[in-house]
Amino acid sequence: MKPLSPLLDTFGRPLRDLRISVTDRCNFRCVYCMPKTVFGRDYPFLARADLLSFEEIDRIARRFAARGVQKIRLTGGEPLLRHGIETLIGKLTAIDGVEVTLTTNGSLLEKKAALLARAGLRRVTVSLDALDEAVFKRMNDADYPAAKVLAGIEAAAGSGLAPVKVNCVVKRGANDDQILKLARHFRHSGHILRFIEYMDVGSSNGWALDEVVPSAEVLRLVGETFPLEPIDANYPGEVAQRWRYRDGAGEIGVISSVTRAFCDGCTRIRLSTEGRLYTCLFAGEGHDLRALLRGGADDAALDAAIAAIWQARADRYSQLRMAATAGLRKIEMSYIGG
Ligand code: GTP
Ligand code: 5AD
Ligand code: SF4
Ligand code: SF4
Repeated sequence: MKPLSPLLDTFGRPLRDLRISVTDRCNFRCVYCMPKTVFGRDYPFLARADLLSFEEIDRIARRFAARGVQKIRLTGGEPLLRHGIETLIGKLTAIDGVEVTLTTNGSLLEKKAALLARAGLRRVTVSLDALDEAVFKRMNDADYPAAKVLAGIEAAAGSGLAPVKVNCVVKRGANDDQILKLARHFRHSGHILRFIEYMDVGSSNGWALDEVVPSAEVLRLVGETFPLEPIDANYPGEVAQRWRYRDGAGEIGVISSVTRAFCDGCTRIRLSTEGRLYTCLFAGEGHDLRALLRGGADDAALDAAIAAIWQARADRYSQLRMAATAGLRKIEMSYIGG
């Protein structure tokens, strides 16, 4: 069959990446993502029947691949909490021309890394916001030790899920004292540490601009001790800016979604756990693909819906952030994925 032409949105951005949230649940309560005050015992997480099945996810993923998607990232909540996730990975890695990756908090990685690799996964990104146990436990608010996440990172690399990317969201006054420690720890490790500016995503984290540590500050701090130089992006539209240690100890990245928005090159679409499509991390409303699927839509109908949604896309929230968008109702990152 002739491949369909790539889709362009209203700014001419092609559709390249599909991020799929496979569960809205998480065993952590990170202060910047799922604060306990909001995501407490009575939080109404989705019921099982509301989740897309693996067959439904696979079907949607194949329609996206036919329209030019080259990378699929599984996210959550915590994706490794979804029962049988390796079965889904097996299905998705069988799609031609698509790279499958996964973002995890690392808590189940030591146990599951080998299984994931066997299912065909090639890489993982692991969140780790601190090395000091007290700081890490304050960040995840689930009494979870950093040592276990570190063991998960090593298990991943040992299973061939390499290089491992390690994501650290920096929140001023909370974990900014960990920046240099993390940098020192991951030098010479072969893992790629990335510092992420704390974003105003969702409505529950109580975000304030003065809690954002700009990437420029992170680079200054690390560079004073371990001199850095910039390196080229791996591919156009890469979210992280890459830097390498001048002494050859490896590379780090910074993701500056607040101080240097990257909407111009944004080729990402997000599929929520219950099958809604969001054209921006900061979108308030999704498009209900599950209703189409369960209503018996054929491939042509799905393709038409996907095309219409992407071609109408005009999102560039991070670029507008400081303008008139402050009052928007925003979805939570734990629902739509990191
Ligand atoms: P790789 O290059 O394949 O490793 O992917 P990536 O750089 O997109 O990495 P990842 O998916 O781990 O994203 C890292 C972090 O960047 C996310 O957890 C978010 O905090 C942020 N991020 C990713 N995509 C977007 C986006 O579309 N918009 C905004 N504003 N932030 C994003
Ligand atoms: N700001 C920046 N990144 C966030 N993440 C979750 N919440 C935020 C936020 N408020 C991202 C982190 C984490 C991933 C799962 O989601 O990168 O590693
Ligand atoms: Fe869970 Fe990741 Fe959100 Fe932390 S950032 S609460 S680990 S989904
Ligand atoms: Fe893409 Fe929206 Fe993020 Fe901009 S704010 S980079 S358009 S997801």
